[in-house]
Amino acid sequence: MSNDRTQPLRLGVLASGRGSNLQAIIDAIENGTLHARIVVVISNKRDAPALDRARKHGITEVFLDPKPLVGRPDTREAYDRALLDVLQKYEVELVLLAGYMKIVTSVLIQAYPQRIMNIHPALLPAFPGLDVQQKALDHGVKISGCTVHFVTEGVDEGPIIVQAAVPILETDTAEELSARILEQEHRLYPQAVRLYAEGKLHVEGRCVRIQKNESRPIPSTDAV
Ligand code: GRF
Repeated sequence: MSNDRTQPLRLGVLASGRGSNLQAIIDAIENGTLHARIVVVISNKRDAPALDRARKHGITEVFLDPKPLVGRPDTREAYDRALLDVLQKYEVELVLLAGYMKIVTSVLIQAYPQRIMNIHPALLPAFPGLDVQQKALDHGVKISGCTVHFVTEGVDEGPIIVQAAVPILETDTAEELSARILEQEHRLYPQAVRLYAEGKLHVEGRCVRIQKNESRPIPSTDAV
């Protein structure tokens, strides 16, 4: 089923750090390859470079301070309720985690079922969690890469949308491998968002089916 969307898809990006994946999405929108609009960038870190990137491109940026909520029994949920208020205020349709260093709770996941994506620098389900480029090297795998997936309550466990493979070289340091994976991340994330914006992603259980472009009928030789 194709998507009849005429208005750009409204994106909300959650980022805690450098924001190079945010930049890749901004670039794809600005160069016309992604029909979307980032309506808000939210960070849990006041000095996240991702917020500067948003500002430079005239995108609304919000720092949402987690500190006032620390010590409550429902700290994480309370934070996500505050986050949800902002996402709903800006009428966000799809949430992108881009180097967002907090665990997302059911508060957000239930409000945005299969409408939250994350990018992870390994080929899931191998190496979930943190420092995964080093873990891939330590494990001696020959191929790693990156994964864009929908976010569910299990960390890095949601349905896989797209992946890119990156060969590991014997001489690789974690930094060198991370840099080559990051190049692929910047290509892959806008591609996944584009598939979503075009209505081409269909979740069946834990699998995501990607609708192929409609093929044009091959003219019959009889008709020539
Ligand atoms: C990326 O490697 C991403 O896969 C991971 O966190 C890193 C964020 O980098 N989730 P950046 O902030 O997008 O530059």
